[in-house]
Amino acid sequence: MTTTFSYEGKFSERSRETAVSHPRHATYDFAVAYPPPDVVPLDGLIEGLKKGLEREGHDLVYYTERNGNAALREFTAQKLADDRGITVTPEEVFMTAGSGEANYVLIHALSDPGDTVITEQFVYVGTLNQLKTHGINVVGTPIDDQGIQPEALDELIKDLTEQGKKPKFLYTIPEHQNPTGSTMPTERRVQILEICHRHELPIIEDDCYVDLRFDGEMQEAFASLDTTGMVMHVASYSKLLAPGLRLGYFVAPEEVTNRAIGFRSSGTANHFASLAVEGYLTEHLQDHKDDLSDSLGAKANAMVASLGENFGGTGATWGTPQGGCYLWLTMPEGTPMDKLVDEAFDAGVGYLPGSAFAPNGDGQNCARLCFAYETPEKNRDGITRLAEFLDGKGLMKAAPAD
Ligand SMILES: Cc1ncc(COP(=O)(O)O)c(C=O)c1O
Repeated sequence: MTTTFSYEGKFSERSRETAVSHPRHATYDFAVAYPPPDVVPLDGLIEGLKKGLEREGHDLVYYTERNGNAALREFTAQKLADDRGITVTPEEVFMTAGSGEANYVLIHALSDPGDTVITEQFVYVGTLNQLKTHGINVVGTPIDDQGIQPEALDELIKDLTEQGKKPKFLYTIPEHQNPTGSTMPTERRVQILEICHRHELPIIEDDCYVDLRFDGEMQEAFASLDTTGMVMHVASYSKLLAPGLRLGYFVAPEEVTNRAIGFRSSGTANHFASLAVEGYLTEHLQDHKDDLSDSLGAKANAMVASLGENFGGTGATWGTPQGGCYLWLTMPEGTPMDKLVDEAFDAGVGYLPGSAFAPNGDGQNCARLCFAYETPEKNRDGITRLAEFLDGKGLMKAAPAD
């Protein structure tokens, strides 16, 4: 657009110039955050939408109830009870434009610029950006392959409090974490609840990937273990179905919800998409989860097997995910995975550097690999290509024997 008007001096203090990004896809695209495209139930969604439109299509002319479409909230409340042991009424479920909006409104209800918030040491970059843009001092707490380490969290809260930076809340992704793929066992969640309770630290639990399990047992939600109302539970239909639906939700104590919704960017969640989701999932939730887990399991296994073949004995380590979309690759210290992103892309492999997820910029030698998007064959071949690329850079030396 050609303009003659100058906005100089008119921008808000916290606005930042952000380039509109156009997704670029490498030949082997492990950089994305998409669920498996092969199981998106297009016919089922069309059928569900038709059913919903026949029932209440005339209501599209109105703005729906402020917390979203009633039928979808009813379905969601039942799903939360069945899957997560969280007992809420449909009135207490708040539908949002993806879980991204749910996180945004809760963050804004609970923190002011300059406040300190604790996240996992590596955390979903969307939430990290939301917090940073809001002027929050984001501090990562140490994690291992089972998520947050309770004792280290306790120490961190004490240290921050002593420094006059008492954290406002803990944001955590306990199930199939983004980016590391780890799941926190129930026992740790109980310990962390006790710690947070002692420090009066509320928890935002982001359960975005809970439906994407293909192995092992689902762990209990923080929100079902807690009996005091200190946990706000966020989840999404983006990963179970498709991000393009833009439907997520949260449940929180009424006093929090009533503050949070003041930060919404628009009136209500998408009514049209809600009809399709409710219409499809009321009849097909379990079938769909089964398809999803078959697809994800085959894709993850192919990637893990190829990592073993190509990276075994090099000193690299990687997780063995039981669900979700991601696998975390840690190369030996000093391997500049962050600096090699563009060259690896040109060589055919897309990934996100670990440092993009770290509040303090750590993780230069790490990479997040999405196993959910490509086929099992491409996952296998893409890892081989990545190994060849790193080998060409002299970065695939045999690890010294212990
Ligand atoms: C942990 C986590 N939370 C929230 C989101 C946002 O997803 P959506 O707004 O599509 O529900 C994502 C997307 O990748 C995510 O990984």
